[in-house]
Amino acid sequence: MNAPIKISVMICFFANTEYQKIKMKNNKLKEVEKRYRELGVEGDDVFTLIASEYIQFHKLDLSERLIGIIKKANEIKCNGSSQKIGSIAKRVVRYDKLGKELPILYQFFHSKRFRDNTGKFFTPRNVARSMADMLPLKNDAVIFDPTCGGGTFLLEASKKWKNSVCHLLANDIDNYLVTLTEIVLKIQIPKKHRLSLFNENIYSPEETIRLFQNKVDYILANPPFSLTVDNFSPESKLLRRGYRNSDALFIDLAKDLLKEGGKLVCLLPHSIISNKEYAELRKVVEEDWHINGVMVLPEGVFQETANTTTRADILILKKKGEGIFNSETVFCNISSVGQPLNSRDSLFEEDDLSRILKQDEVRKVLETN
Ligand SMILES: C[S@@+](CC[C@H](N)C(=O)[O-])C[C@H]1O[C@@H](n2cnc3c(N)ncnc32)[C@H](O)[C@@H]1O
Repeated sequence: MNAPIKISVMICFFANTEYQKIKMKNNKLKEVEKRYRELGVEGDDVFTLIASEYIQFHKLDLSERLIGIIKKANEIKCNGSSQKIGSIAKRVVRYDKLGKELPILYQFFHSKRFRDNTGKFFTPRNVARSMADMLPLKNDAVIFDPTCGGGTFLLEASKKWKNSVCHLLANDIDNYLVTLTEIVLKIQIPKKHRLSLFNENIYSPEETIRLFQNKVDYILANPPFSLTVDNFSPESKLLRRGYRNSDALFIDLAKDLLKEGGKLVCLLPHSIISNKEYAELRKVVEEDWHINGVMVLPEGVFQETANTTTRADILILKKKGEGIFNSETVFCNISSVGQPLNSRDSLFEEDDLSRILKQDEVRKVLETN
C-alpha cells in the first residue's frame, strides 16, 4: 500500500526541483534586467553588452560581425560608470562560461522585436539534440541550417561529430541572429569543425548560398512556419503546383541544396502531414524523396521557448538519386520530449523522442547504426 505513495512523492519532488531551476533562470534574467535598467540600459543594448563580454572573455577570432558588436557595446551610454555595466556582464559570463543560455538571453532582451513576421520560434535543445542524432555520422559531412536562429541545431550536430571532421553552414535572414550563432558556435565547437556564416534570404538566395547547390550532406532545420513567399528563386515543382508558403518551398529548397542521398531532418507544421490541402504536396514529396521517418510531436513542444501551442512534426527525408535506396519508414507518435508541454505538465522529464532513437529497428531505418 505504501509503495505507490512513495513513488508519487518522489516524482513530485523531482519535478519541483526542475521547475525551481526554470524559475531560478527566469529570476536571474529579471535580476540582470533590473540592474541594467538602474543604469539606464535596456533591451537590445543589454544583449550587446553581454555578447561583447563573451567575445572578449573567450578571445574569439574576430570577424567583422564580432568587431561590430564590440564597437556597438563601447558606444552604449549609461547613467552610471562604464565599470559598473561591465561588471554585470562579467558576472553573467562567470555564471555561464560556455554561453549555453545565450539564445535564452537573446530572446529575453529582444522580446519586443523578436516576434516580427519571420517566425522566430527557437527549438528546444532536447528536440534539436534528438534531430541531430537522426543523422548518420560520416566524416567530412557538410551540415547546413539555412534558418539557424541561435545556432542550436549546429551546436548539437558539432557535439555528435566531436571526433570527426565536418563543415557547418549557418544562415539566417536576421544578421543579429547570425552573430549570435557565430558567438555560440565559436565558443563551443572544436577547431577541426569548419564554420561558414551567411546572412541571406533563403527563399531567394544570393550567389554564396547557391555555391552549395547539390553539395550539402545534411540539412537540419526549423524554418519559419506558414509565411507567404513572393519571390522564390530555385526551380520549384511545389511552386508550380500552387504552393507558395514557406513550408512547402523549404522542402524544394532543401532538394536544391542536398546531394543525392543527402538528408533533410526538419520541423514542419503538423498541417503538412494531416491536412487535405497538402495531399498534392505529399505526392510530390514521395516522387522526389525517400521518406525515412515522420515523427508526430505532442502539442506544446514550443511552449517553453516560444509560449505557443503551434503543432509541429519532424520529417526525415532522403533525396532520391541513382543507386539511392530506402528500406522502410519510421512513423511514430511521440508523447514527450523531456520538457514541459504546458504549465501543469509534471511528467516532462520523460523523453519518448530520444528513447525511440535508441531502438535498433529505428537506427537501422535511419542508418544511424
Ligand atoms: C523557427 S525559427 C528557428 C531558429 C533555429 N533554427 C532554431 O530551431 O532554434 C526560424 C528562423 O528563420 C529565420 N528566417 C525567417 N525567414 C527567413 C528567410 N527568408 N531566410 C533565412 N532565414 C529566415 C528567422 O530569423 C528565425 O531565426
